[in-house]
Amino acid sequence: MNMDDDKIIDEFWENGFIIFENFFGASLMDEYNHKILEHYGVNPNWEHTNEFITKSAVEVVPWFPYREGKRYFDRINDDKHFNSITDLILRDGWENLYCMMMFSKAGSKGQAWHQDCPPDDKEKFNLNRLVYTHDITEETGGEIVIFPGTHKAGILSIGVPSEDLEGQLVFRPKKGTIIFLHGHCWHKVMPVKKDRISSNFRAVPKGTPEDITDICVYRNMLYQFSTSQVLKERK
Ligand SMILES: [Fe+2]
Repeated sequence: MNMDDDKIIDEFWENGFIIFENFFGASLMDEYNHKILEHYGVNPNWEHTNEFITKSAVEVVPWFPYREGKRYFDRINDDKHFNSITDLILRDGWENLYCMMMFSKAGSKGQAWHQDCPPDDKEKFNLNRLVYTHDITEETGGEIVIFPGTHKAGILSIGVPSEDLEGQLVFRPKKGTIIFLHGHCWHKVMPVKKDRISSNFRAVPKGTPEDITDICVYRNMLYQFSTSQVLKERK
């Protein structure tokens, strides 16, 4: 293990996230961005051809290509460097949870503060491996906001779902940037002004239950995706 490796491990476990800019090349990102847009029925000029997307009021439309046997993104999924950083962070072994693409339409709200899974057991968590296939800018909106160190802070504070919090950091990742983000670390996504794509090659420590991300913690509720139910109001 070299110095850089130690720095990566320390930074991730101190802050709950670590960012690498220019990790993937522009041409690969363009190719993948195009593939994702094509799936959603959006042409290369970011114009919608898919009626569902045009009419959709859904804030984030997810797509799990590998569940459909579409291994379109193996050059990320199988990338040695990408996975070797995952090895450093999840030292006792890990596995892929799933690869999830997310499409947010211009004008959608983004995402409120949340933890991807309840932090009751600090050994049980997911690792987001976010890959940005296009620039997030002031014009696009959809910035990712992270509250450093909160993977160690227990359950997300109760309060107004999307309000700015003292200590938060706002990021506008460029094309090719990757972010490793602990699922217990508090994060949100700002309102989306132009169509936005992001991708998440989610991993988990070995032995983590497959449904680890079924219950999401918001500032006003616990929400269960499998049943589309508010499990508990928080106030
Ligand atoms: Fe999340």
